[in-house]
Amino acid sequence: MPNPTQLNHAFALAGALRFTAGNGGLTCARIATSAATACVYLHGAQITEWQPRGQAPVLWMSAHSNYDAGKAIRGGVPICFPWFGPHSTQKAAPAHGFARLSNWQVVDTRLLDDGRIEISFQLSGRTISSPLWPADFTALYTLTIGVSLEMALQIENRSLRTISFEEALHTYLAVSDVRRVRIHGLEQTDYFDKIDGRSHRADDKNPLMITGETDRIHADSGPEIRLEDPDLARCIIVAKQHSANTVVWNPWIAKSRQMSDFGDDEWIQMLCIESCNITHDSALTLAPGARHTLRTTLTVIPLT
Ligand code: BG6
Repeated sequence: MPNPTQLNHAFALAGALRFTAGNGGLTCARIATSAATACVYLHGAQITEWQPRGQAPVLWMSAHSNYDAGKAIRGGVPICFPWFGPHSTQKAAPAHGFARLSNWQVVDTRLLDDGRIEISFQLSGRTISSPLWPADFTALYTLTIGVSLEMALQIENRSLRTISFEEALHTYLAVSDVRRVRIHGLEQTDYFDKIDGRSHRADDKNPLMITGETDRIHADSGPEIRLEDPDLARCIIVAKQHSANTVVWNPWIAKSRQMSDFGDDEWIQMLCIESCNITHDSALTLAPGARHTLRTTLTVIPLT
């Protein structure tokens, strides 16, 4: 694995992007432009910070996160692939797949004409020797960082047989108080509630508000979800493409206490709105040579 000096030699962008040793000594790219600051770890290709200038941080990070090659980073945007949640048959397999535990390779950085920074990471099936996932694939993850944050996860089937997988951009959003935010865009959608184990239909008219532990998989949500935060006087727009379902997750009080990498009171300041292709109905199937790209763009606008 290349060290920060070698990465800077190949990929640094003067005055805008540098590689350095981050928390736990893990290598990360630090980005600073006139539009935003950001930080991305090679471990999981996980963006842990994105802050447009003049805004409070948009991505939430736990102060108790592990930064350890064998463990997931708690916060930012973990990539879940090639399964979501526990593995369907192997209890010992890592939750949410191996992508967030893998060291991704930096393949490109560039300064775009409009001043945004693009950084691309790759994970190759050939470097993953998991008996749970014998098929060859290439995952290409491109972040475009500026006033908006665009995340594009492309999976290519490089094996000789059809593959099927789940994926999610498990986006942790920072909020002032999750009990006071309103989530628009999930009205009239069917959802599976992991807390009571049942299917429901979301309220026809009213935005979703978080009043307890929440862990839902919404099907057929529209292309845009809006998270209104009255105390920060802002709205985070989560715009997605090629995503069949949306997970909304907040662990609330009891579950927070059970997680060693999550502070007891941290549930107040976070909400996950995850762009996904998950569950038996919406897992993706790719023929040999075929590709699929899941895309999510975050934008912050003032709440009027
Ligand atoms: C969410 C799931 O996406 O991630 C929850 O819907 C899960 O069920 C949560 O608890 C956190 O998962 P993990 O593996 O990062 O603790």
